[in-house]
Amino acid sequence: MPLLRSTFIALSRNSRLRNFAEQSSLGRRMSSRFVAGFRIDDALAAAAALNAQGLSVTLDSLGENVTTPAEARQSAEVYHHLLDSIAHSRLDANVSLKLTQMGMDLSPALAEEIVSGLVGRAVQSDNFVRVDMEGSGYTQATIDLVRRLHAVPENRGHVGIVIQSYLRRSAPDIATLLANRIRIRLCKGAYQEPPDLAFPDKKDVDGNYVALTKTLLTSGVFHGIATHDEAMIDATKRFASENAIDPATFEFQMLYGVRRDLQRALVAEGYKVRVYVPFGDEWYPYFMRRLAERPANVVFIARQMLRK
Ligand code: FDA
Repeated sequence: MPLLRSTFIALSRNSRLRNFAEQSSLGRRMSSRFVAGFRIDDALAAAAALNAQGLSVTLDSLGENVTTPAEARQSAEVYHHLLDSIAHSRLDANVSLKLTQMGMDLSPALAEEIVSGLVGRAVQSDNFVRVDMEGSGYTQATIDLVRRLHAVPENRGHVGIVIQSYLRRSAPDIATLLANRIRIRLCKGAYQEPPDLAFPDKKDVDGNYVALTKTLLTSGVFHGIATHDEAMIDATKRFASENAIDPATFEFQMLYGVRRDLQRALVAEGYKVRVYVPFGDEWYPYFMRRLAERPANVVFIARQMLRK
């Protein structure tokens, strides 16, 4: 793993820096490059603006690794509110959440109960809950939990998962999930993983990404191809067109504030695109992972700050 990437990932877990950054006004200003705001209303306004440009949205209330059951339940309340507001305002949006934000580290049973309640709410408004994928210590538990929730007949199609192409195990995981027709978001993976679990070389991560995309596109289930990498996007388009796969049967997904030009260009070409819109006070770990992906973002953000 390149040094800068691992440095930023290490910094993303530094709690002192995190407390300082999240409370400083400079930190909060910097975060606005990748975070849609601090309040639910900011996120809903961002979603409406993106919808007006033909982009679908998934809303993420930032937070991970909560330390008390009360915090976990509070996080879930925000998501209940989001699902209600999406229905009420008729937004083209669903939600994405993290299991560690729902208490997974405290009690997997608590996390399951909370997420089950949220999926139930999504069923009522014909919406969808995406369970993000975190570090490899959570992979199996996340897959198991999503499969159990999806096995409840009324939940089918209302809960989905994320698979990371950097993990060596992902092809068999996808086969298991597809046997249950579970919707998958495919991404490369944003955490620091050891080489026995994850491919250390970008070319292998990318090669696996393309291979897994082909499996997803021919599965007959609606999936999300989540990447800003033009090589991955071109390979997806090419494979779809060569195999007469209707572009309406999958979507591209990208992060808020990243490659907005590409997001709009894909919509103009007739592809479905969903933007992942994070919001909230707890932006620091998310923000640092975005710097890890592209250390040049530091320069970019510094320039933006100087201009203000
Ligand atoms: P790659 O990192 O190879 O970058 C390709 C090109 O994209 C770069 O050269 C640059 O041009 C552009 N780019 C990428 N990241 C950028 C950034 N931060 N700023 C500016 N430009 C950038 N991960 C995970 O582990 N679990 C999850 O649940 C999710 N969920 C998720 C949802 C969605 C909608 C997306 C798009 C991504 C995720 N991810 C994720 C993150 C993902 O794993 C990955 O870290 C990033 O998407 C970066 O990988 P790329 O595929 O974009 O390619």
